[in-house]
Amino acid sequence: MIVLKDISKLRSLLSDVRKTKTIGFVPTMGFLHEGHISLVKMCKESTEFTVVSIFVNPTQFAPTEDLNRYPRDEKGDLEKLENAGTDLVFFPDKATMYPGGFQTYVEVQELTKPLCGATRGTSHFRGVSTVVAKLFNMVQPDKAFFGKKDFQQLAVIKQMVKDLNYPVEIIPGETVRENDGLAMSSRNSYLSPADRKSSVCLSRGLFLARDKYHAGDIRIDEIELFAADFIKANAPQSRIDYVQCLDADKLTIPTPETKNLVLACAVFFQRTRLIDNVTFTVS
Ligand code: PAF
Repeated sequence: MIVLKDISKLRSLLSDVRKTKTIGFVPTMGFLHEGHISLVKMCKESTEFTVVSIFVNPTQFAPTEDLNRYPRDEKGDLEKLENAGTDLVFFPDKATMYPGGFQTYVEVQELTKPLCGATRGTSHFRGVSTVVAKLFNMVQPDKAFFGKKDFQQLAVIKQMVKDLNYPVEIIPGETVRENDGLAMSSRNSYLSPADRKSSVCLSRGLFLARDKYHAGDIRIDEIELFAADFIKANAPQSRIDYVQCLDADKLTIPTPETKNLVLACAVFFQRTRLIDNVTFTVS
């Protein structure tokens, strides 16, 4: 496995690889778990050269957020990536990605407004789309892999690729869950044992709300309240940032034309903010 920190070395190596092989790319912020590794495995199955980036991107964190305490494990990450058969790890530092005088950003305007954009501020997704645009320019992959746990991020990246004509196919990966249903996240490592135990109510609440809706027990306009009440009842110490049910294709309030729904939530346990979502069709 090759590990590079330098953009020009990355470009020159990948320009040779590109002559004979398709390139797949998994961008990450490190502290890797089974969710990331499942994307690496998908990447290896459908492309011939797998590139993974590890970069904790400062522009997607608000000043009040957890940039400085974001978990890091360089040695463990490299071991996991090597075991998963990664070909190249790109591990740039901040000065490489954002040299002094940096002043250009990529902004997807509408899809960033609801959900995490409304509560974390649209600068979060501006940071995500900017760093992903930069990484796509450096790696120039044929396919790039993003987890469905970050449902809005996936929608934003797909839109950016479409609007800016990037020649890259975006492939979504299923959310990987712990045995009890909690969506895997690097941030789960912050949870106290008690919060970890009750955090299972996020996925349970979302799935139960979906099942009750499909069974005809609750209406579409009752889904959010049902899931929020379930979370409050099972994790009274948590603070709900949002629980929202939107048109999954447009991320807007469902209308009679809506076919696909996403029920998404963000919930704080102390300072740790967890997100999860479930998608389903209108019945
Ligand atoms: O999902 C993440 O880990 C990050 O938002 C990403 C896509 C690597 C951009 O920094």
